[in-house]
Amino acid sequence: MLVLGIDTSCDDTGVGVARGRSVLANVVASQAALHAPLGGVLPETASREHLSAVDHVVAEALRRASVDRRELDAVAATRGPGLAGALLVGLSYAKALAWGSALPFVPVHHLEGHVAACLAEREDGAPPPEPPYLCLIASGGHTVLFDVPEAGRYVHVGGSRDDAAGEAFDKVARLLGLPYPGGPALAALAERGDPDAVPLPRPMARQACFDFSFSGLKTAVAVLLERRPELPPADVAAAFQARVVGSLVDVAARAATTFGRDTLVVAGGVAANRSLRGALAAADLRTFVPRLDLATDNGAMIALAAVERLRREGVPDQSVAFAVDAAPYLPLADAPSRPRDASRTGG
Ligand code: KG4
Ligand code: ZN
Repeated sequence: MLVLGIDTSCDDTGVGVARGRSVLANVVASQAALHAPLGGVLPETASREHLSAVDHVVAEALRRASVDRRELDAVAATRGPGLAGALLVGLSYAKALAWGSALPFVPVHHLEGHVAACLAEREDGAPPPEPPYLCLIASGGHTVLFDVPEAGRYVHVGGSRDDAAGEAFDKVARLLGLPYPGGPALAALAERGDPDAVPLPRPMARQACFDFSFSGLKTAVAVLLERRPELPPADVAAAFQARVVGSLVDVAARAATTFGRDTLVVAGGVAANRSLRGALAAADLRTFVPRLDLATDNGAMIALAAVERLRREGVPDQSVAFAVDAAPYLPLADAPSRPRDASRTGG
């Protein structure tokens, strides 16, 4: 099954080609330099940049995969969630490409794409995760925990009550005067710092639910920097990172125990964080993280998610697929749920 996937949900024009679980090409045209002076993504600029980039990025992905568009079995694109105008560019382009090539079109949920990134074939030949498992998605826009009892079913377990983990990384990076995009810059600075040298609160400490909260931690960093400007920025970065990583791993591990799952799949841009990867490897769980090149937004993960859907469910009804519109807000979970023995966990 040979699928081309497009993601234009935020500020990266991502196009990938996958044959089954094998990623043949993954081209990402980043707009980071354009948005850097503003310290964040300007939606209108993002849409215009996608529009001027998408055609070239698709051509480059096909060239690197050595595939002609007529050889494809399907074309897939992110339908949401994301920035409305940005989503619209990739979605419309993908529909037009599919229509013009007489191919099926497969709309994909962005978060299902992040999870599918963990399915990509690995150099060591390790098998992909198989449901049931617990799934943590930590990106710039989302921090959510799902139980996945079977492929394609996502049961909401918990999530951030305020900022997403990646968003907190970006905001604290800004407080530390680091360049946009802040997450990777903060992580690099934290490598040189001592996480125990700076006092910061533990987010949602002593809570029995499976939710996260990062905005109080961000405020604590702001207050600390104002009161004690002499603190080494690397120590502040390391302490902040340790608190975020600790919270993500503690809540996910506790939820895994409660839901009786021994496998944890972690996806989204924050899954690129080395400290998080280290803490996950030390946890008492079978943990799957995406390849580094597939952790942040990209088109290959959308192609992989489409391959899975096609394999499981066959070609979707094309009158429905072509009618799908860009959906800035789009839930992934079927319904909120709690395990029977955790009915008193609150949240
Ligand atoms: O999944 P993603 O590419 O986009 C969204 O769907 O939101 O995630 C981007 C987020 C950004 O907030 C970025 O700062 C964060 O992931 N991120 C990281 C690292 N690499 C990317 N955060 C911490 N450490 C990293 N190494
Ligand atoms: Zn994403």
